[in-house]
Amino acid sequence: MKKLIILNGPNLNLLGKREPNIYGSLSFTEFLDQIQSKYPSATIQHFQSNIEGELIDKLQEVGFSYDGIILNAAAYTHTSIGIGDAVKAIETPVVEVHISNTFGREEFRHQSYVSPNAKGIILGFGLQSYELAIQSFL
Ligand code: DQA
Repeated sequence: MKKLIILNGPNLNLLGKREPNIYGSLSFTEFLDQIQSKYPSATIQHFQSNIEGELIDKLQEVGFSYDGIILNAAAYTHTSIGIGDAVKAIETPVVEVHISNTFGREEFRHQSYVSPNAKGIILGFGLQSYELAIQSFL
């Protein structure tokens, strides 16, 4: 049984309501229900926070015992040296995920403090980006 966790950063609690033209109209809870039943060979936990330090605490908490972390640090991707350092410090591989194609958007979204230490990066496939990341750990 693979132990995986999806970590979602700021404003991703609004999925389904937030800019549906970019992020889709499905809530993350609905999506998570679907993928948890689709991949019974993995336990897929989920943690979301709008607070940078809480995301760092969670990375440290799970980062030495889980098989994989799927991280969408959202806006903190582009600003947080602390989250980047935490990804570097832990042992569990991190796959960086984005719903949108950040390279097709504003220039400030082209920078990522997560990417240099991520195992891989999946972006632009909508919520399916998370599913592809899960598959990469199975
Ligand atoms: C995002 C892209 C980020 O630039 C943005 O700040 C988000 C979501 C994505 O999943 O496409 O909040 O990480």
